[in-house]
Amino acid sequence: MATVHIESNKEDIAPRVLMPGDPNRAYYIAQKYLTNPKLVNKVRGELAYTGKYKDVDVTIFSSGMGVGSMGIYSYELFNDYDVQNIIRIGTAGAYTKDLNLYDVLLVDSAYSNTVYDDESGIENVDILNSSFELNGVIQDTAALKGMKLTQGRVHTTVAFYTESKDYSKFTDKGCVAVEMEAFALFFNAKKFKRQATALLTISDNLITHEVMDSTQREKTLDEMIVLALDSIIKK
Ligand code: HPA
Repeated sequence: MATVHIESNKEDIAPRVLMPGDPNRAYYIAQKYLTNPKLVNKVRGELAYTGKYKDVDVTIFSSGMGVGSMGIYSYELFNDYDVQNIIRIGTAGAYTKDLNLYDVLLVDSAYSNTVYDDESGIENVDILNSSFELNGVIQDTAALKGMKLTQGRVHTTVAFYTESKDYSKFTDKGCVAVEMEAFALFFNAKKFKRQATALLTISDNLITHEVMDSTQREKTLDEMIVLALDSIIKK
C-alpha cells in the first residue's frame, strides 16, 4: 500500500508518530532511541523510521517545513495509515521576553491567518486546539521528570522571512511564539478525530534577537525528544 507521497506498507507505520520537521533529525532520533529502526519512507527524502521505544512501536516521520508539507503528511498518516496520535517536535521563535531560549513550549492551540483551512475545505477557523488528553499525558510525564514546560498558543506562519517587526497582530490573538506547521497538523487531527499536539523548543527570540547556539541546541532538543517518546508510548 502506498499513497501519493508515502511508500510505506500500512503495517510499517505505528499508531503513534513523532514528527520532527527535519529528515536528518528523524534519522538521528531513530538511530539514537529506537531498537531495530526500519526505514519505512524515503520518497522526496522525507525520511520515516519505525522501531521500538521501551518495547512499544513508534514511527518517527519527518514533516518537512510549512503547512503545505505538514498538511500532506499528517492527512495521509491519519487517513491512509490509521495513525491515532501525532506529536510534532520542533522549534519556535518567541514573541515575548517571558520565553527564554531553550524553554520547551507545549502548544495548546495554533492561530493562523492563512487560507489553509478555507482551501482544505471543512470549515473556517483561525484558532485550533491541540489534544487536551495528549497534553495531559505530556504534562504528567514532564512533572515526573521534574521538567519545566510552558503551555501556550503559537502563530503558524507561512512566511519565515517577514519585513514587519510588529508582532502585535499575533500577540493580540494570544500567540507567544511563531512556527510553521502546527495549524495544519491540528486541522487534520480535528478532521479525522485523532489526537495531535506539538512540543517546541524556543530556538530564537524575535524581541531580544537571541539565537540558540548549535551545541546547546542538540542537548535541549534531546530532552524534548525523550519527553515526547516517554509520553506517546502511554497512548
Ligand atoms: N519563525 C518561524 N518559524 C520558526 C522560527 C521563526 O522565527 N523559529 C523557529 N521556527
